[in-house]
Order: sequence, then structure tokens, then C-alpha cells
Amino acid sequence: MAGGRRPNLVLVGFMGCGKSTLARLCARTLGVRWYDSDVLATRLAGKPIPRVFAEDGEEAFRSIERQAIQILAAKRGVVVATGGGAMMDGANAAALGRTGCVVYIRITPETVLKRVRGGRGRPMLAGSAAPIDRIRELLAVRGPVYEAAADAVIDSDDMTPDAACREVLGRYQVYRRELEAAARAKS
Ligand code: S3P
Repeated sequence: MAGGRRPNLVLVGFMGCGKSTLARLCARTLGVRWYDSDVLATRLAGKPIPRVFAEDGEEAFRSIERQAIQILAAKRGVVVATGGGAMMDGANAAALGRTGCVVYIRITPETVLKRVRGGRGRPMLAGSAAPIDRIRELLAVRGPVYEAAADAVIDSDDMTPDAACREVLGRYQVYRRELEAAARAKS
């Protein structure tokens, strides 16, 4: 974490894990701003993400997402929700990791399926005859990447958003205290 400024809180995890809801709740409690890389990517693209996938392809979306992440990684003292695929890019993960505390909001494939309701509006799951198999397949690849990038992991399947938010903020406070202790030990 660069500088002595307040670290960011970065939420990562699979589609449907509640990153955006939690980012909003956590930011409200902390009294800071929050951002969502999907919202910024939509603005940069000038059209909704499913249309970017349909008209320009996934690679075009990933390129816009990289721009969004670079913009968000320049902010400090904020909460950032990331798109489910954003951390698969090593440069994105490194840039966000340098800004502060990364929390992986983990849910099982079954919970993903319940929350995304067939995958409407989620191009990574669209057109899949057996969405649960697609979710399992993607999670098998992505889960270890989220874990490796994370300073903390929350298993949030059975948690209400408020409970998950409290849990996330608890981990963030621990991270901040450790950072402050490390800075004191250095000086
Ligand atoms: C994606 C997840 C989506 C969005 C895009 C690609 C992915 O974000 O970035 O559809 O690759 O998992 P959410 O995780 O917010 O649904």
C-alpha cells in the first residue's frame, strides 16, 4: 500500500456474490465514496455490458474493463466493487492489490445459480444449457485466483447483506491496524 493515506477496500468474487450491494453498504458505514468497475466500464463503452459482449466480443470488454480498473486503482480511501472477471488479469489484480485491502466474497456454485436466476444480463453465463456446470467450471479456475489476491475471505452464502458488510468491515479494520503497526515499526 503506497503512502500513508487511507487504504481502499476492494471487493472481489464471482457474479452474484453481492459485491456492489456490499460496496454501497460498506461505503455508507465508512462515510466514503464507492465505485463499481462494471458501472465505469458501461460508461466508458457507452453501452450496456451485454451489448459490448454481443457486438464487440469479450476481448473488447476486457480491454475496457482494464481501463476502468486503472482509473479506479488511482483512487484512495474508497470502496471498489470489481466485475467477476476483472481479477483474472494479473495487471488488474496487482494494481488493485497495491491500493489496499482486497476481500474475496466467496459463495458456492449453488448460491451463484440462485442469485443470478439463469444468467440474464450476464454474458459469461448466457446461452449455457447447464448454467450450474458453467458456473462450477469458471469458479474452479477463478476461485484460486480470487483467494491468491485476497487479504481476507468471507463465506457469505448464508449471510444477510448487513451481516456480510459487518464481516467485511471487521476484516478491513484488522488490515488497517496491521498497516498502521507496520508503519510505526518502520519509523
Ligand atoms: C463478468 C462479470 C460481470 C461483468 C461481465 C463479466 C465475469 O460482473 O463484469 O459480465 O467475467 O464474471 P459481475 O461480477 O458484477 O456480475
